[in-house]
Amino acid sequence: MKRELQLTFDGSHTIFIPSSGVTYHSKHGAIQESLHVFIEAGLMPVMQHQKEIHVFEMGFGTGLNTLLTLQAATKQQKKVEYTAVELYPLTKEEYEALNYGATLQLQNELEQIHTIPWERMEKINPFFSLYKTQTALQNFHSTQLFDVIYYDAFAPSAQPELWTKDIFSQLFSLLKDNGLLVTYCSKGEVRRAMQAVGFNVSKLPGAPGKREMLKAIKTNKNLL
Ligand SMILES: C[S@@+](CC[C@H](N)C(=O)[O-])C[C@H]1O[C@@H](n2cnc3c(N)ncnc32)[C@H](O)[C@@H]1O
Repeated sequence: MKRELQLTFDGSHTIFIPSSGVTYHSKHGAIQESLHVFIEAGLMPVMQHQKEIHVFEMGFGTGLNTLLTLQAATKQQKKVEYTAVELYPLTKEEYEALNYGATLQLQNELEQIHTIPWERMEKINPFFSLYKTQTALQNFHSTQLFDVIYYDAFAPSAQPELWTKDIFSQLFSLLKDNGLLVTYCSKGEVRRAMQAVGFNVSKLPGAPGKREMLKAIKTNKNLL
């Protein structure tokens, strides 16, 4: 599959797939979007109340969400165990070209998260451990339940099979009670699929350039 490096408007890179016309992040700013959707709306509310957090990410991709989570965990001195699925990992040449390491001053960490072995939990620093698995989301099972899910699949127009009730039901069962799922997508169909499987869904302001995003909570009320 041919993939190209692109610059987004905040100066950070993303990857573009010409055959499907999709990018890994918003063209308005990759770092800006990841911080807004996944770190600020997903991770931070949980970090305020817990010392240890289990994060699950759909789509490791460039590792940007992972790197920003590592940065936040280290800064806040909170323990994060991070699990990510990725079916089509980037090549060495592709991840070495990314400018996130230089921009965030986390060059060693960017390299580490890409070079650690797949399929086992690896400690990156005292606050951050990472488990990457080259498994399709649809086949992912875990005995570990998660506090937060970063749902970063390609858009429903590109991969409709990843935005169905079945998928959201699978994600619902991966969460702890009161766990939350965040995604950049705000489509009505997606929101309704989440609600149909029991999530309590709210719309939040989107990252710059996007009107809205979704936050879905597995509240106790949903479980009655
Ligand atoms: C929007 S990109 C993720 C961007 C990533 N979170 C980042 O920070 O760079 C979607 C990712 O999902 C991966 N992917 C696509 N289908 C998948 C599947 N069925 N299971 C697991 N990963 C998949 C793609 O290879 C791609 O890396």
